[in-house]
Amino acid sequence: MAYSVDINNKKLTLIKGDITQQDTDAIVNAANSSLMGGGGVDGAIHRAGGPKILEECKEIRKNHGICKTGEAVITSGGNLKARYVIHTVGPVWHGGNNNEPELLAKCYKNSLKLAVENNIKTISFPSISTGAYGYSIEKAAPVALNTVMEFLSENDSLTEVVFTLFSSLDYEIYKETLENILSGRNRK
Ligand code: APR
Repeated sequence: MAYSVDINNKKLTLIKGDITQQDTDAIVNAANSSLMGGGGVDGAIHRAGGPKILEECKEIRKNHGICKTGEAVITSGGNLKARYVIHTVGPVWHGGNNNEPELLAKCYKNSLKLAVENNIKTISFPSISTGAYGYSIEKAAPVALNTVMEFLSENDSLTEVVFTLFSSLDYEIYKETLENILSGRNRK
């Protein structure tokens, strides 16, 4: 399952799959502020990437402290196909009146900025905050897609952004959301 669209001559791709298997230059981890690993995507990336990633996270903690919600840090990819892992901390859903959409958008924006600073051309995102952090995927997908599309419209250095959705349902929700955004744009 894959679906690609062209945004300002760059590719925005949706696929159903496991982000640890992606061979984009970077993959993004849905981390927590401690950067010490966890379950879900975080657990999968540390398991597949090996101890080097955690060692680099410990170095980041020593030099810069915790990673605040909405912020992003970068490590190597360890044993992964991806050369880099960008760790970002999504907002926990607390009902929608605690700046959740703005903080979620910051995760995508700061991850993309960090990718550009490191001359990364292709990057894969999971659906940040829509697992343990309780952000409904129907509410998160428009924020994620609009933020990435806006960045691709304004920035020329990336060539492809991939959303790697772990289930068919998540994939279908992102695909429908993306189609709605694009049809809305065409209507204007
Ligand atoms: N590849 C792609 N997507 C995945 C994978 C994987 N291997 N594993 C899980 N997912 C999906 C989940 O199905 C969900 O849609 O990633 C999305 C985010 O889920 P979580 O990993 O639970 O991340 P999040 O909701 O941001 O919660 C982060 O969970 O694992 C802990 O340490 C982490 O405390 C942090 C919190």
